[in-house]
Amino acid sequence: MKTELVTEGKTRLKVPDSSFYEKPEDAPVFFNPEMKVNRSITVSFLQKLDEPKFSDSLCATGASGARAGNEAGAKVFLNDLNPEAVSIAKENAELNELDAEASNEEANLFLSRNQREFDFVDVDPFGSPSRYVDNAVEAMKPEGFLGVTATDTGALSGSFRNAGLRRYGIKTLRTGFYNELGVRALAGFCVKAGARHEIGLKPVLGFGLKHFFRVFLERVGKKEKANDLIKKVKEIRYCGECGYRAFNGKKECCGKKTNVVGPVWNGSLTEAAEELSGVDEESKSFLDRLSDERDELMYNVHFLCKKKSIPPKSMEELMQKVRERGFSVSRTHFSDFGLKTDMGFDEFFELL
Ligand SMILES: C[S@@+](CC[C@H](N)C(=O)[O-])C[C@H]1O[C@@H](n2cnc3c(N)ncnc32)[C@H](O)[C@@H]1O
Ligand SMILES: [Zn+2]
Repeated sequence: MKTELVTEGKTRLKVPDSSFYEKPEDAPVFFNPEMKVNRSITVSFLQKLDEPKFSDSLCATGASGARAGNEAGAKVFLNDLNPEAVSIAKENAELNELDAEASNEEANLFLSRNQREFDFVDVDPFGSPSRYVDNAVEAMKPEGFLGVTATDTGALSGSFRNAGLRRYGIKTLRTGFYNELGVRALAGFCVKAGARHEIGLKPVLGFGLKHFFRVFLERVGKKEKANDLIKKVKEIRYCGECGYRAFNGKKECCGKKTNVVGPVWNGSLTEAAEELSGVDEESKSFLDRLSDERDELMYNVHFLCKKKSIPPKSMEELMQKVRERGFSVSRTHFSDFGLKTDMGFDEFFELL
């Protein structure tokens, strides 16, 4: 494999030569520089832990593991099914003089061989993480963290409804808030996986960027916590005519039955954002942006204006109007046309 040396964060990495392989998936080992912010935020989580054991369960070049070791002092476990990946991941660990172990196993075997072993389990596969989450949960120490990436965004957010049902057991539709729906679906799926193992897994951060969704969850207790958390994985009622949507919403709208979407996570997706100190300007400003976001499902202003057959409204003016009526409002990273507010759908729709 043709390689080059790059620096990501504070870490030197040997990766496939980007001038030779046009796209990350063309190289014998996968490396996507666009996932940097994702890895940076993982490092932020690890920096809060004391000598954490980090499982880079599907490590590819071991970029996450190398950064975890180098920038957060983690003991690193590098694993991948591809032997060429394991070999370059080992080189990256050596390049950064890390305390690391490497293995060349199927991720589920690797994780199930390491039950209750890791302070942070990272699951970053090609496509769907659904088949790895159960073993990832079992590999977490009590009070550990789980980071899960999904690139099958269409299955989670309503473009591929059968795939959503198959992989995640969720009903989806294409909506105006599709990427938030996808992140909440992934978070809800992980909460349910925790509950299956009598473990309380709480989503503490979730976001959607470019072509992936990422959620971070904290192990917060046993079955009592799982009981509380699973109650927050709820169905949304959605009306395709006007765009009405609400958790446990009305069963009829615009003279028709509303559609069931989900179940998905109905809690905060930004709880950890304020406590994390980003490792660089990019991740800091992204975390700041997340910490300013409210918890409600977003309204997509352009989408709703289209439903009303009116021209799009100015976001700033609309926010002002919402505030004048006594509600709180924030923007959201999910969409430039998205607003989050405690104002109910009917009033917001009327305000447009
Ligand atoms: C998206 S890449 C991981 C990227 C990496 N986490 C990073 O930050 O650069 C997915 C990796 O999963 C590996 N893989 C795919 N199926 C696997 C399996 N069943 N068990 C272990 N590794 C697997 C692939 O070889 C590939 O290296
Ligand atoms: Zn309606």
